[in-house]
Amino acid sequence: MDGKKTVFSAIKPTGTPTIGNYLGALRGWQTMQDEYRCIYSVADLHSTTIYIAPAELRKNTLELLSLLLAVGIDPEKSVLFVQSHVPAHAELTWLLNCNTQFGEARRMTQFKDKSAKHPDNVNVGLFDYPVLMAADILLYQADCVPVGKDQMQHLELARTIAERFNNKYSPTFVVPEGIMPATGAKICSLSDPSAKMSKSDDNENGYILMTDDADTIRRKFKRAVTDSGSEIRAGADKPGITNLLTIYAAFCGITLGKAEADCAGMGYAEFKMRVADAVIAGLAPVQKRFAEYMNNKDYLESVMRNGAETAARMAVRTLEKVYRKMGFVRLQHNRG
Ligand code: TYM
Repeated sequence: MDGKKTVFSAIKPTGTPTIGNYLGALRGWQTMQDEYRCIYSVADLHSTTIYIAPAELRKNTLELLSLLLAVGIDPEKSVLFVQSHVPAHAELTWLLNCNTQFGEARRMTQFKDKSAKHPDNVNVGLFDYPVLMAADILLYQADCVPVGKDQMQHLELARTIAERFNNKYSPTFVVPEGIMPATGAKICSLSDPSAKMSKSDDNENGYILMTDDADTIRRKFKRAVTDSGSEIRAGADKPGITNLLTIYAAFCGITLGKAEADCAGMGYAEFKMRVADAVIAGLAPVQKRFAEYMNNKDYLESVMRNGAETAARMAVRTLEKVYRKMGFVRLQHNRG
């Protein structure tokens, strides 16, 4: 072994990622690739807990893979794969289901929010979602899991499940740590700064997609909700401006304090265009590479194939251990 710590993270192909996904997760994924052994996944199994049209799921999966390559996830350095290509994820989920309490899963905020938002489709998958997420992480014995703030509760559950299993059977899983970026762990909606920016928002002015063109980005920032007063500063009484400053700081790679100093004295309209320009400039190279990858389906296929083979080899080692520890009879020349 090379002594490097292992990182695992994943993103759902439910639509084009927003700059919230980018700043909260994807950009950090890219920077961790030299220091850590990184494993990144397109979490397609997670995306079907809310109905998604089959054609859309197919399209989103390839787009997301291209976007991950475009932000700089390098398949020569990291394992990059599509979750459903590695059956061990579904198998470990079942085994972990039997080691997770109903009450623990019921407490998950995302489950409560999504059930309230889609009362006609409160499916068992939606309830089981965090257990699948725990399986993703624990299969690879991940030490660190870079995520945005909204996923920290799921990460706590993964830790609880790992600890319980380790105590009940014997040490089996690494207990993972969640890590969040210093700036950008929660990017809020441009139209409602009290809510997180989400690709599933009904109001398209609330989010900036990573593939939005310059005009769209300017238009959306122009409409962004601001606060009373005219000062450009961060603070609990200024959620709209704080969010815009956070986006600006994260795209420029500066602290919130420096962003405040840079923009002090500007009017709101000028400030919004300053933020829009930083976002446009930051996304431009990613968008260019994205278009190139989307035009190279053979390459995408080879990335998926190689990633799935490597991930499956790693995952099955943990899975076999879990089966054996729980007392399942395994065949002699089994996969592990
Ligand atoms: P997903 O697809 O909703 O989001 C992917 C990543 O983006 C982060 N994120 C944000 N960060 C800051 N501000 C926002 N507004 C914002 N919106 C989203 C998320 O925190 C996440 O890190 N369940 C996960 C996917 C997943 C996973 C895993 C993650 C499946 N298995 C195992 C970690 C480990 C999800 O739905 O992410």
